[in-house]
Amino acid sequence: METGHSVAINVVNLWCAPFDQPASDGLRGYAVTLLQPVAGHCRQRPIHVSYHVSEDRLYSAPLNRIGDFEFDDDVAEVFPDMIRRSVPGYASMLSLIGQCAETYAAPNTNVYDLGCSLGASTFAVQQHAPVGCHVHAVDNSAAMVARLRQTVAQQHCTGAQQHCTGALIEVHEADIRQTDIRNASLVVLNLTLQFLPPDERDSFIDRIADGVLSGGAILLSEKISFADPAQHQLMTTLHHDFKRSHGYSDLEIAQKRTAIENRLVPETLDTHVERLGEAGFSTVCPWFQCFNFASVLAVK
Ligand SMILES: C[S@@+](CC[C@H](N)C(=O)[O-])C[C@H]1O[C@@H](n2cnc3c(N)ncnc32)[C@H](O)[C@@H]1O
Repeated sequence: METGHSVAINVVNLWCAPFDQPASDGLRGYAVTLLQPVAGHCRQRPIHVSYHVSEDRLYSAPLNRIGDFEFDDDVAEVFPDMIRRSVPGYASMLSLIGQCAETYAAPNTNVYDLGCSLGASTFAVQQHAPVGCHVHAVDNSAAMVARLRQTVAQQHCTGAQQHCTGALIEVHEADIRQTDIRNASLVVLNLTLQFLPPDERDSFIDRIADGVLSGGAILLSEKISFADPAQHQLMTTLHHDFKRSHGYSDLEIAQKRTAIENRLVPETLDTHVERLGEAGFSTVCPWFQCFNFASVLAVK
């Protein structure tokens, strides 16, 4: 795969496209068009945005000292490639986020994408959310937020752009723990809760539940652990096999694991389901699991 080129790509398909799918200009990259909102729903009119696609080689060389994983500029640069090759089922998670937006996102309400990174979930929501719905994309990584702002501006769908006909995206550089959640028809936490200290997660989810409207939903995707050590070992092995099959070496897998183990603390699926129930969501339904990654839909 060639890397480091600016190519016109589909912002949503960027995260979904097969690794080796050639782009139309011959670069090995990603699919090409972005669907623009038409009459409130983004389905038909293709527009192009420019995006820099780089291959994740961050842990390929031996490191003397492996620091804690940060969502810094280096990571933001390679993030689409990193997440697609590291998270089995990521494309399916994004696809359900879009479907949930179709079902739950309502006019004159807020949708929150908490820990939005480069906006994969944000755009999945926006493409399916109705006119009059405000999509708030929140992240505390300056590197991620700067890139997302650029993409959103290219897409002409900020509140400042009069000709946007679909849901508007507002990008916030902020800590999700300090973000006010109100009048929410849908809250997306796609692979983000796992980065908060475990002892802050109950109160954080409680606060989100308070801001979700009756009939609204939260969609939570996480890396999970398993109470049974044999299951935990099996799923970890299969996850590492997945990464190997997507081109990561044993060294890359080992160094990334060391970097991230203090930052990403997984919990069991039962813990997530219980927490959401206790926060006041009446229907809590795990809908997806691929190895040690799972996604839960909870409706208030
Ligand atoms: C794995 S990425 C999320 C991927 C993204 N949701 C997607 O669907 O592609 C986790 C993101 O959460 C953000 N994050 C972690 N802790 C945060 C916090 N306390 N406040 C805001 N953002 C946070 C990180 O900066 C990072 O961009």
